[in-house]
Amino acid sequence: MLSQEKNRLLTEVGPGTQMGDYLRRYWHPVAGVSEFDEMSVRPIRLFGEDLVLFKDLSGKFGLVQRRCPHRNADLAFGFVEKCGLRCAYHGWEFDAKGQCTHQPYEEIVDADARLRKKVTVTAYEVRAKAGLIWAYMGPAPAPELPDWEPFHYEHGFAQVVLAEVPCNWFQCQENSIDPIHFEWTHNNWTQRLQDSNAEYVPTHLKTQYEEFDFGFIYKRLRAKESEQNPMWTIGRVTLWPNGFYLGHHFEWRVPIDDENTLSVLWVFNRVPKEQEPYVQEHIPSWYGPVRDENGAWITSHVANQDFAAWVGQGAITDRTKETLGASDRGVVMLRRRFFEELEAVAAGKQPKGLITDREANHNVYLPSACRDELMNGLTRAELAAHPLLGPYLRDFIGQAGQPDHVREAYEAAIGQRLEGATFFTVHGARAAEEGEAAANDPA
Ligand code: FES
Ligand SMILES: [Fe+2]
Repeated sequence: MLSQEKNRLLTEVGPGTQMGDYLRRYWHPVAGVSEFDEMSVRPIRLFGEDLVLFKDLSGKFGLVQRRCPHRNADLAFGFVEKCGLRCAYHGWEFDAKGQCTHQPYEEIVDADARLRKKVTVTAYEVRAKAGLIWAYMGPAPAPELPDWEPFHYEHGFAQVVLAEVPCNWFQCQENSIDPIHFEWTHNNWTQRLQDSNAEYVPTHLKTQYEEFDFGFIYKRLRAKESEQNPMWTIGRVTLWPNGFYLGHHFEWRVPIDDENTLSVLWVFNRVPKEQEPYVQEHIPSWYGPVRDENGAWITSHVANQDFAAWVGQGAITDRTKETLGASDRGVVMLRRRFFEELEAVAAGKQPKGLITDREANHNVYLPSACRDELMNGLTRAELAAHPLLGPYLRDFIGQAGQPDHVREAYEAAIGQRLEGATFFTVHGARAAEEGEAAANDPA
């Protein structure tokens, strides 16, 4: 349980708020690069600010304020030029640094362009990496954009999966340090959605949480698993400040504003060894719906189950009304660490886990329970039998709504058709029969 004031501290992300300013000191994935294959400008809201994301004719990305400083037209209606974005109302042009670079009529009247030189828009640094567009909205200089090791994995198919989730970012991030929910949200609930008499899966027996440079590692041991299980020996990464790393995929929870969060997944599937060598030419990105055609929350896929759980907690969950228990040890550690960080940064210290040394920013290692498999590859038969990676040979279990063209590209990569399931028998769900083999679940 937290005071109202402390809850506000964790959850308010607009300009000038403590947490908003803190999070702005990190790079955040905000869109898919492939969105800009066919389009060059779109509005985007981040940290309570209305902005426009664009790719100009030279291929450079830019992120600027949404309102034109001339007479407030919407720059989302703008069009791109060789170096920047031009307002569709009177043609003022801005480069990716925010400088006004052309005022067509004003410059006819004043060849010295005195007004133009004084006009700027708010602009943030953006970069493309791993099929994602990343934004940095903090003070200069920007830290390094993390070069996580999996971004260099070979012979695999990566995809970027996005969704707008109507609740505050922090309750989404608390989920990154909450192992117990797997058993209930992704195993038992999935079973009961299909069969109201289904038996429960093996329960968690113990959990452990450790801090490291880039966040926390949580470990868990479930009934019928040995202490050699990788979920107990290696665990998973609560990636600081708003990510989750599960070995074969990342998840980020990027604040849109106090009551909305952009969920970003980067999912990597190594193709069966029989398909190697495989080089992915294009990383697709897509947005999945959170509700079905009747307006009901989608609960069939892993990320959708999480979304339903988070949104169910309220737009900004009221932490003055909680009853925390032993399963929340990680959540309590996470909150405490954020409070310490906010104080430390206010006292002039460097935020946790920033990479500022360019030399150190290559292939940055994160612990993973399936690192060997993804680095060395598996045959089709081994992959099919793998508790964590095998389900992806049957269908995309991560999030509902994968477009046909992405599925087809993935099928071509792995060299087989998918089954097209509506519900997924989620892994730990099979633990009762398969014991140790089902120890990892993909959520
Ligand atoms: S409002 Fe943008 S150029 Fe006039
Ligand atoms: Fe989950």
